[in-house]
Amino acid sequence: MTLPALPRPALPAFVRMVEVGPRDGLQNEKTIVPTTVKIALVEKLADAGLSVIEAGSFVSPKWVPQMGDSAEVFAGLARKPGVRYAALTPNLKGLEGALAAKADEVAVFGAASESFSQKNINCSIAESLDRFAPVMEQAKAAGVPVRGYVSCVLGCPYEGEIAPSAVAEVAARLYAMGCYEISLGDTIGTGTPAKAQAMIAAVAARVPMDKIAVHFHDTYGQALANLYAALTMGVAVVDSSVAGLGGCPYAKGASGNVASEDVLYMLNGLGIETGVDLDRLIAAGAFISDALGRPTASKVARARGCA
Ligand code: HMG
Ligand code: MG
Repeated sequence: MTLPALPRPALPAFVRMVEVGPRDGLQNEKTIVPTTVKIALVEKLADAGLSVIEAGSFVSPKWVPQMGDSAEVFAGLARKPGVRYAALTPNLKGLEGALAAKADEVAVFGAASESFSQKNINCSIAESLDRFAPVMEQAKAAGVPVRGYVSCVLGCPYEGEIAPSAVAEVAARLYAMGCYEISLGDTIGTGTPAKAQAMIAAVAARVPMDKIAVHFHDTYGQALANLYAALTMGVAVVDSSVAGLGGCPYAKGASGNVASEDVLYMLNGLGIETGVDLDRLIAAGAFISDALGRPTASKVARARGCA
């Protein structure tokens, strides 16, 4: 007996995977990872076919010492044509560092929660947007695209629930300022699919769907489910972190981003193109897990024999 085909939601034909492991992952390590290891990791990720790699962060080294060598990381990279090497820039000083390092794109990062904004970047949401305005202007003058992050889109470590309207407001402001894409961050990984969809719907009422990216941390094991829920709505840009590295130093208990290997395995299974090679990605994850001396957080990598 042939069973009837199940109805399948429309999914994007191509998903751009944005690799944030070298930044979002390594910023959270207790020990400082050697610059040479960071460079080797970024190069392996590029070799796996990732076209956007967040390679570092030009933030205060007093706040995040782990990213203090980002200028050296950018300087030491053998850049692969067609790959964009990105950096976080919270203010003009950060932008100056990123431009000097020849970052191909930069990112400003705001939050939907006042308390998180204070803890993470030491200012209110309104002040952060004021600070981003000259960053946007100077990046534009330099011809460098700016991505905008919104943190705490599905919950805040200090305030708990966050209203979708608060997320939409910050996302719309960043988009209106000229960010080419808005990445919606579930910083503490507490979101579930229906909640994620309600939040994305609120943002999509103010920012075009093709300018929205999702950035799920996997603290509660919901990231792939949330991601699939986002794909069914038309989101086609996904942030992830090789070997599931990471967290945020100002979000206690937050675990890594969803593992890039696991995202790619799911996208491959759905027949969605990415341009990324799973074996090479697993090898990059094995390299960094080995360098950090701990097992990978990617289930796919573990299933494929990585310790
Ligand atoms: P502040 O202390 O208010 O800044 O920090 P300030 O302007 O008063 O400057 C204080 C000192 O920092 C001065 O040095 C500045 O020169 C220096 P001093 O005179 O004391 O020697 N400084 C800098 N140094 C290097 N690069 C800079 C820079 N700016 C100032 N860009 C600041 C404000 C934003 C700088 C600080 O709070 C900071 O660096 N925060 C970064 C926090 C961070 O990186 N968090 C993790 C990334 S966000 C994240 O992970 C979430 C995300 O993944 C999405 C998600 O998951 O939700 C993106
Ligand atoms: Mg993050």
